[in-house]
Amino acid sequence: MPSLLRGRLLPLLAVVPLVLALAPAFAAPPPGGPDTLFPRLGDRSYDAVHYDVRLRYDPTTNRLRARTRLDASAPTRLTSFRLDLVGMRVTSVRVGGSRARWRRSGQHLVVTPRRPVQGRFSVAVAYRGVPRTYRDPDGSREGWVRTPDGAVALGEPVGTMTWIPSDNTPGDKATYRYRVTVPRGTTAVANGDLQGRRNHGRSTTWTWRARDPMATYLATVAIGRFTAHHSQVTSVTGRRIPVWTFADRKRDVPRSIRRALPRVLRFEERLFGPYPFTSTGLLVDDADVGYALETQTRPFFPYSVDEVTLVHEMAHQWYGDSVTVGDWHDLWLAEGFATYAEWLWEARKGGTTPAQQFDSLYARPASARLWSPAPTEFTDSRDLFGDPVYLRGAMTLQALRERIGDADFFAVLKAWARTYRHGTATTADLVAVAEEVSGQQLDQLFADWLELDGRPTGY
Ligand code: ARG
Ligand code: ZN
Repeated sequence: MPSLLRGRLLPLLAVVPLVLALAPAFAAPPPGGPDTLFPRLGDRSYDAVHYDVRLRYDPTTNRLRARTRLDASAPTRLTSFRLDLVGMRVTSVRVGGSRARWRRSGQHLVVTPRRPVQGRFSVAVAYRGVPRTYRDPDGSREGWVRTPDGAVALGEPVGTMTWIPSDNTPGDKATYRYRVTVPRGTTAVANGDLQGRRNHGRSTTWTWRARDPMATYLATVAIGRFTAHHSQVTSVTGRRIPVWTFADRKRDVPRSIRRALPRVLRFEERLFGPYPFTSTGLLVDDADVGYALETQTRPFFPYSVDEVTLVHEMAHQWYGDSVTVGDWHDLWLAEGFATYAEWLWEARKGGTTPAQQFDSLYARPASARLWSPAPTEFTDSRDLFGDPVYLRGAMTLQALRERIGDADFFAVLKAWARTYRHGTATTADLVAVAEEVSGQQLDQLFADWLELDGRPTGY
């Protein structure tokens, strides 16, 4: 039996109440062991519920003074537990208000509270220093990235541990509050809703709150001299969603793109269901990283925004951010869907259709990188952002569409976003949803497209 079939035998209707039973926070770690690609990161012994992040940042020196409190919950008694943190100097760790013992070991901050914890507990870490930029296995830069007038924090796949001591694995989502103090005249942007801005002396503290569960890799803060645009978009259901857009003030965001955002959001709502979060907007900054990122509620773009990338990062708000992979090897569930959203957007006014995209990719030679390793079968984290995950991932959806027909296919897209909203999910969960909606057996199709090394035949 293909490995993705493991554990998928529960019919969807039985799965739904099970997912709800994991509430309140929809944040319980998925069962099982460490992440396939980053086995050293994350600590499954507790569940992160809320991060309260306080930062004081000086753009001229790039120094950060920070205090993060994590509210968490441990199902069993823990005599010690781990947070992920690289760089920074830790000055104190408290658990439930009492000083705790701690030590650094590689990417781990190992905390030993005075008394074991069980049930709800909180851990507060004070730390300072110049946060690190992190070099990814594929050579790109993330973590704390300096810009000409400040910095931006980018976290996919692992960079958030450069500035937040955290349970740094996508399977453990939590809510966030940020209070960021910067010199007056400087702006601090983060995920979620702007709660307030308070001047004191020569500083300003910006407070942001992300009330919907979020994976660590989607957390961001951007500090710099920005132009701000605040407005509202009316969703297809009539909900008014606040928009906060910030751009380096040397760039700004062209009005055409600001106008495109509501159109893209509504286009995607019609296809994927209601926009999942409390606010939206864009973040455009001078960070030389070479990629855009779907930072939750406020996707990041380096230097400028083009419409297709906007469509891609906005689609991630449903697929990736709201429905999040529990393990990095399932990343096609984010990138394949976001790429497919680009194809749908391009087709909407008589452009290239997804079927044509599929055919021209299918014509790539058998030796093309597209065909190997298969989307869920790579074991090297260098392959996370490769063609198999993005393009063969999107082709998988087109193959599914051809098999089950348009009506069921678009019903699957919506059912998927609805069933796992604000949660985490696996490829096996998607197979189950698609089989439930279509009434067809689809395990072979998904196995061909996701697990087979080489080009699937007969499509
Ligand atoms: N998820 C981002 C996107 O699809 C790409 C992030 C690339 N990150 C990296 N470390 N290479 O737009
Ligand atoms: Zn993407």
